[in-house]
Amino acid sequence: MLVTTKEMFKKAYDGGYAIGAFNVNNMEIIQGITEAASELKSPVILQVSKGAREYANHTYLVKLVEAALKLYPDMPIALHLDHGDSFELCKSCIDGGFTSVMIDLSSKSFEENVEGTKKVVEYAHAHGVVVEAELGTLAGIEDDVKVEEGKQSYTDPSMVEEFVSKTNCDSLAIAIGTSHGAYKFKPGTKPQLRFDILEEVSKRIPGFPIVLHGASSVPQEFVKMVNEFGGHMPDAIGVPEDQLRHAAELSVCKINIDSDIRLAMTGNIRKYFAEHPDHFDPRQYLKPARAAVKDMVAHKIKDVLGSAGKI
Ligand code: G3H
Ligand code: 13P
Ligand code: ZN
Repeated sequence: MLVTTKEMFKKAYDGGYAIGAFNVNNMEIIQGITEAASELKSPVILQVSKGAREYANHTYLVKLVEAALKLYPDMPIALHLDHGDSFELCKSCIDGGFTSVMIDLSSKSFEENVEGTKKVVEYAHAHGVVVEAELGTLAGIEDDVKVEEGKQSYTDPSMVEEFVSKTNCDSLAIAIGTSHGAYKFKPGTKPQLRFDILEEVSKRIPGFPIVLHGASSVPQEFVKMVNEFGGHMPDAIGVPEDQLRHAAELSVCKINIDSDIRLAMTGNIRKYFAEHPDHFDPRQYLKPARAAVKDMVAHKIKDVLGSAGKI
């Protein structure tokens, strides 16, 4: 079933776990994620960025997700637009079969963010689609927008009530120290999310689902694999998994993961090429890449998100 995130988030909030939102760009990624989620009986969010849509084409991605739904008819899957940057893009995804969209105007003023989000919410709700919004800015790269280190800003908890009540959004992404990409913390420093901000936010909007972007943990086994087989990713560091687990126990209902998928695939493809220099059939090297995505997602569902068996 293609569903909205409404029911998923309510159960996750009450149950102290989170739903994984995995970025999808091609068939192998969709297969890896949905195979893992179906075996573990976990609901899942498949999210598509503007860049993914440009790369793979909207229709291809929707049809691939429909294929997964046909294979796993009992699994609740939400199809979500990640970091929508305009009303037009959100509308196109709403009209084109998505069940959830994010409108990310977090780099704009509070007033512009409220106005723009409200407009998307009105259209989305009229079409049975839910909306994620964002307050506060993460460092790192979000599609074409690069927020430099030092320019990011934590979410101000005193603004969330007004934002949520004025926009009527369904979930809220906040900035508590995560960032996009594979370089989230400086080497030698202790990665630490601002749980005080998260708790303050939840006190002001109790029961409201919170979203964590930039939540890859950058598994060191994949970083090692990349570096061992010809890559160069020194000091790639992610969010410690115990902190993600803790966030999931609190009000965080959606945890976004993209970089870990990229690392799992790239590490394994590099290894495959190094070990089989004569192979040139894409099926040969995409097979271990897809299996690595599946294993990584299964680990997240079981050991980090806590969403196994929650269908
Ligand atoms: O938050 C950004 C996601 O990792 C998507 O990245 O825009 O390169 O597809 P992308
Ligand atoms: P990562 O780069 O940490 O995987 O974050 C992904 C994300 O937030 C997608 O919106
Ligand atoms: Zn994001």
